[in-house]
Amino acid sequence: MVKQVFGEEWIGMTASQVNSDYYMFTDSVTKELHYKAKRAAATSCTVLITGESGTGKSKIAKFIHDNGLRRERPFVTVNCSAIPSNLLESELFGYLPGAFTGANKTGKKGLVESADGGTLFLDEIGDVPLELQGKFLELLQNHTFIPVGGLKKCDVDVQIIAATNVDLKTRISEKSFREDLYYRLHVVECIMPPLRERRQDLKALIDFFIERFSIKYGLMKHISDEAVHLLLDYDWPGNIRELENVIERVVILSREECITISDFPLHMSEPTIATLDFEETGFPKLDEYLEKQEKQLILKAFNRLGSSYKVADTLGISQSRATRLYKKYKEKP
Ligand SMILES: Nc1ncnc2c1ncn2[C@@H]1O[C@H](COP(=O)(O)OP(=O)(O)OP(=O)(O)O)[C@@H](O)[C@H]1O
Ligand SMILES: [Mg+2]
Repeated sequence: MVKQVFGEEWIGMTASQVNSDYYMFTDSVTKELHYKAKRAAATSCTVLITGESGTGKSKIAKFIHDNGLRRERPFVTVNCSAIPSNLLESELFGYLPGAFTGANKTGKKGLVESADGGTLFLDEIGDVPLELQGKFLELLQNHTFIPVGGLKKCDVDVQIIAATNVDLKTRISEKSFREDLYYRLHVVECIMPPLRERRQDLKALIDFFIERFSIKYGLMKHISDEAVHLLLDYDWPGNIRELENVIERVVILSREECITISDFPLHMSEPTIATLDFEETGFPKLDEYLEKQEKQLILKAFNRLGSSYKVADTLGISQSRATRLYKKYKEKP
């Protein structure tokens, strides 16, 4: 259950309370966002969540479900880009006995049906193949679907929440996303701002994560003002996910109770190589340094450009290399 925490309300929570299911927001920008999320929860309307990677799209989707009328019913996530496109249709809509060679003899229930009465979270909706988008439209428009190998329509009652970090309007102009589907999805849009534009939340999240990981690991850590400024000035290309990773690591690794600038990775205080003389810090190892630069570039490029195709084209690398690097750095602190 994702609970909401305003501002300083979390201070003094016990270990079991400060867990990853808390939802932090203080900023006026995100307060507006949460008003929308709560209205969506109260009405079960279709929601489209957009924003860079790591900004909390999946988190807010769960927040809507947990605060809505369907909270006791299933919350089913479908990552549309992780399921191979030839399997997506049968995974989602299920299939009837003998629908195709190799199919289960008794048929199979799809994810849509298992979400009946609850919420269906369609993550990475921008990656749904064009030939399947018609079936998504039917689901949104009429709340019906036809299992693979079937002829009869089945009814289903689900709230649909979709998320994407690609620009669907660009996909529409490239003719890889249906405009009618976009408008059906776009009933309430929650635009997750990048962390660098959420100054007030950033400060609150820093304190929140330090408290949370201190409690988790049984340590008593706090942070110096100077180090907070370093974090406030940093660009956060990986958004909240990156902040969470960085703080978890410094809470574990810092030697003193007070976390200082020197506990943070070097690249966070090194904006450009042109301004560095490495006098105080000493020269880093070349491979480590290059890896940090590569990480920043890849995360930033994916967040701005949205698709591996565009990133590959812009950075002059192959699409498979772009995807491999993104996977490598997305989760890596
Ligand atoms: N408001 C918040 N309060 C506390 N933690 C948060 C908040 N928003 C996001 N997080 C945490 O940040 C991390 C990234 O969030 P999430 O996975 O929802 O991002 P996302 O936008 O769905 O990323 P992706 O595009 O890669 O799927 C998660 O560990 C999540 O728990
Ligand atoms: Mg997500």
